[in-house]
Amino acid sequence: MLNLTRRLHNDTTLPVIGLGTWQMPPGEVTYHAVKDALEAGYIHIDTAAGYQNEEAVGRAIKDSKIPRESVFVTTKLESHVKTYQGALDAFDASLKALDMPYVDLYLIHAPWPWSDIGSNHDAGNIEAWKALETIYASGRAKAIGVSNFSPRDIDNILTEATVVPHANQIGLFVGNPQTETVDYCREKQIQIIAYSPLAIGYALDDPLVTEMARKYAVTPAQLLIRYTIERGAATLPKSTHAARMKENAAVDFSLQDADMQTLNQYVNDPRKFN
Ligand SMILES: NC(=O)c1ccc[n+]([C@@H]2O[C@H](COP(=O)([O-])OP(=O)(O)OC[C@H]3O[C@@H](n4cnc5c(N)ncnc54)[C@H](OP(=O)(O)O)[C@@H]3O)[C@@H](O)[C@H]2O)c1
Repeated sequence: MLNLTRRLHNDTTLPVIGLGTWQMPPGEVTYHAVKDALEAGYIHIDTAAGYQNEEAVGRAIKDSKIPRESVFVTTKLESHVKTYQGALDAFDASLKALDMPYVDLYLIHAPWPWSDIGSNHDAGNIEAWKALETIYASGRAKAIGVSNFSPRDIDNILTEATVVPHANQIGLFVGNPQTETVDYCREKQIQIIAYSPLAIGYALDDPLVTEMARKYAVTPAQLLIRYTIERGAATLPKSTHAARMKENAAVDFSLQDADMQTLNQYVNDPRKFN
């Protein structure tokens, strides 16, 4: 499963299962988690400037001796940076922290600062997107995209964009099906990347999830991760435990149409936000 890929609309290859690193403390915890993941066969690591662990991610990849071109690395522009020059400078800082000449995917982390969710930054998002286009043209990001963008937010940047985002990373999990954004992105050939596929862990003991997992003789985590893959998304389970990383990648089974329908209709965002 770790070699399963999807093709972005610029022909870049995206490994479907990646390791999430949000809330991994910078330094040794992140370093060892990324090393464990690479040893388990993960070839896709998701970080962000905002996670403050890019340095450890880069160091773990380097020390693994896996060739740089064999690993897919995503990082993100901090959500409060909404100017052209600010975004260029932030990207330079990320490359420096990662100690890499390029990233595989660079994303605008959110359409609004996390401190002011929902506020309007249409002009700033257009500026930031122009910076990402400049970075993409330079070859220092092999693909560019957005995160937490609604169809309206994407329409806004498309008014001036020369590159359609290659991906949109969104919170997608059982209980939060994101139907409108998934349909919109499919139509525009924007690859969905599912973050929080386990709903930060809250969906693991959901009764619908545990019962259906029993039916397929898989763990709740495996059912939840498989759900995001069956939706056509790439998916980013986070764990600092090597055994769970292996469990989360052992998802080579299919969900029946009727069960997908049940899961798609289940709206119960257990995180109590979004
Ligand atoms: N773009 C964005 O705005 C955004 C927002 C949120 C997340 N993300 C990305 O998506 C990634 C994943 O999302 P997430 O970190 O929110 O949460 P998640 O992957 O949905 O869930 C992670 C939680 O589940 C636990 N866990 C993992 N595998 C397990 C298993 N097999 N059995 C039991 N528990 C398990 C982890 O604990 P242990 O670590 O202790 O195993 C952790 O507490 C992030 O790390 C980040 O890279 C992006």
